[in-house]
Amino acid sequence: MKRRTTPLYKKPATWLGGLIGCAVLVILWVAQPTAPRAGGELVDVREPDLYSDRALAGRQAFNANCAVCHGTNAAGQDGVAPPLIHRIYEPGHHGDASFLRAVTNGVRAHHWPFGDMPAIRGLNREDVMLITAYIRELQHENGIF
Ligand code: HEC
Repeated sequence: MKRRTTPLYKKPATWLGGLIGCAVLVILWVAQPTAPRAGGELVDVREPDLYSDRALAGRQAFNANCAVCHGTNAAGQDGVAPPLIHRIYEPGHHGDASFLRAVTNGVRAHHWPFGDMPAIRGLNREDVMLITAYIRELQHENGIF
């Protein structure tokens, strides 16, 4: 007896399989991990329970002048500016004088792909020292010293 087999394309299972396959592809496409959003924090920063008075004053100045680029708690912002809570900026590599230089003269992009930092006006030497004290206390809390 001759058996006639149904061609594959006429079998419901073929169509169902194709449909499920497409659905899986769509789900994978929708759920794919996306690149970090511009503006996202670049590092996780833990804040100390207590700041010194100088660091607290520096924190205020930082939030008013630097956080717009360097982000809250200097955690950096993707596509904008680097985290200052980072090994690169530990005291032995970027001493307090380099903070003063950065604010006074600006910074030519060299460590990161974010472009130059402009000089920041309206801060005196003491303001920058306070900001630096704040950054150092954050760095210390995060194991950078
Ligand atoms: C307009 C954005 C912007 C602002 C505002 C800004 N920065 Fe920056 N800063 C940058 C960028 C971008 C870099 C990274 C340059 C590079 O590639 O190394 C940087 C780098 C630095 C560095 C590293 C300097 C070095 O020698 O490598 C320090 C320190 C710093 N910033 C401190 C500050 C402080 C303090 C403030 C606030 C008073 C501030 N920044 C405000 C964008 C900014």
